[in-house]
Amino acid sequence: MSDVDRFASIPNNVDLHSDKRLQRALESWQPGYLEWWREMGPAMAQDKDAYLRTAISVDTDGWAHFDYVKMPEYRWGIFLADPTPDRKIHFGDHVGKPVFNEVPGEYRNILRRMIVTQADTEPASVEQQRKLAFTAPSLLDMRNLFQVNVEEGRHLWAMVYLLHAHFGKDGREEADELLRRRSGDPDKPRILGAFNQPCNDWVSFFAFTMFTDRDGKYQLASLAESGFDPLARTCRFMLTEEAHHLSVGETGIMRIVRRTGELMKQHPGVDVRTLGAVDLPTLQRVINFWYSYSLDLFGGEISSNAADFFASSLKGRYQEERRAEHTALDQMKIVPVVDGGRLTNKEVPLRNALNEVLRDDYVEDCERALRRWNHELEKIGVEARLTLPSRRFHRHQGEYSRHAFDSQGELITAEQFEANRAKWLPSEADMEFLRSIMVPVHQVGKIANWLSAPVRGVNGQAFDFEFVRLG
Ligand SMILES: [Fe+2]
Ligand SMILES: [Fe+2]
Repeated sequence: MSDVDRFASIPNNVDLHSDKRLQRALESWQPGYLEWWREMGPAMAQDKDAYLRTAISVDTDGWAHFDYVKMPEYRWGIFLADPTPDRKIHFGDHVGKPVFNEVPGEYRNILRRMIVTQADTEPASVEQQRKLAFTAPSLLDMRNLFQVNVEEGRHLWAMVYLLHAHFGKDGREEADELLRRRSGDPDKPRILGAFNQPCNDWVSFFAFTMFTDRDGKYQLASLAESGFDPLARTCRFMLTEEAHHLSVGETGIMRIVRRTGELMKQHPGVDVRTLGAVDLPTLQRVINFWYSYSLDLFGGEISSNAADFFASSLKGRYQEERRAEHTALDQMKIVPVVDGGRLTNKEVPLRNALNEVLRDDYVEDCERALRRWNHELEKIGVEARLTLPSRRFHRHQGEYSRHAFDSQGELITAEQFEANRAKWLPSEADMEFLRSIMVPVHQVGKIANWLSAPVRGVNGQAFDFEFVRLG
């Protein structure tokens, strides 16, 4: 395993001390990062001890170290998964050639754009989640929020390292810009739509980590295939952290489902809202909102960019090695499109449909989670079920963004969509209701009324462990 310098000003396993120029460049970016963290990171408990894991190695069994830490003192570091000896490019036009360790000149711009787009999402989500601790439903949930936040901060470091190490002056400027954009700011917004949406209640937070962080998983997994080896290795390690974010989201919604289901069972015919819990129709609308915005993140269904990324061997498919064929040439994919006022199937060259291929993997994963939540409702003995809307529903990017579709994916008019909006998407009244039940529960071992306690704590600690010492 590569050596990890844990006590350097920037912990790393990339021999930063041997490249003084790069080290100085990153050290001069660091104060701006910390200033951003203080201004835009969690708005509460920054000076409190939180029980967090820190990356200290890239070994699968030894990377996480758990201890109390005050967030501004978190050891944000640069960690790349160890290189695979003699790794070869395994997809696209360069298949079979040795991986790139330097940026090929002809791909410099597209590669920089890919890295900046990924990088921008990391601080954006921290900004979106900034105020959630005030209404944390338990100390464990608060701790999980902080864990996600510090790791998104580390992901920003991971991407900024690539920009500084491989893109010279342009890369340094991009790294500075990453600290200047702000989620939801009308003048300097974050790059992607989902990352400019407000996320001010915990139902939205769980849906965000379930659906939007899960887009991140699929993007990182396809970049982990990259022929640009530093990017592949960076993303491979980021995925180990991302897994926790996804589980916070998936188990978070499961805990809402369990609590709501139990209340429905105990109080038949009663609107659980009157009991201070999240009714399933509202939960469904929050799911519809974040799922549809997250689908946008995969990009257009028919995309020449997607074809270029794959052709250049920079971005592969999810689990590329499991596929039988790695050029994606001479193959077609059927994509439903709107033509002449109706939906028709269009045959698209596979390389141009790779965003949709990745979206297929994502949708399948989301469907798996839905089955688990519905199984829970079934176990409790409640008949209602949650569903995923069609991937055409409520889209702002790609083929379907120019038309209106109902939640089943049928083409409708814009007027019909507006007439049903409050049925499908959270209304202002829904959001107001959710805010009204978001009462802080900051006592050790206690949990908010609308949420069931998790099955287990974290790192073997019980739920009544003092995960954040608010004191
Ligand atoms: Fe991330
Ligand atoms: Fe994440």
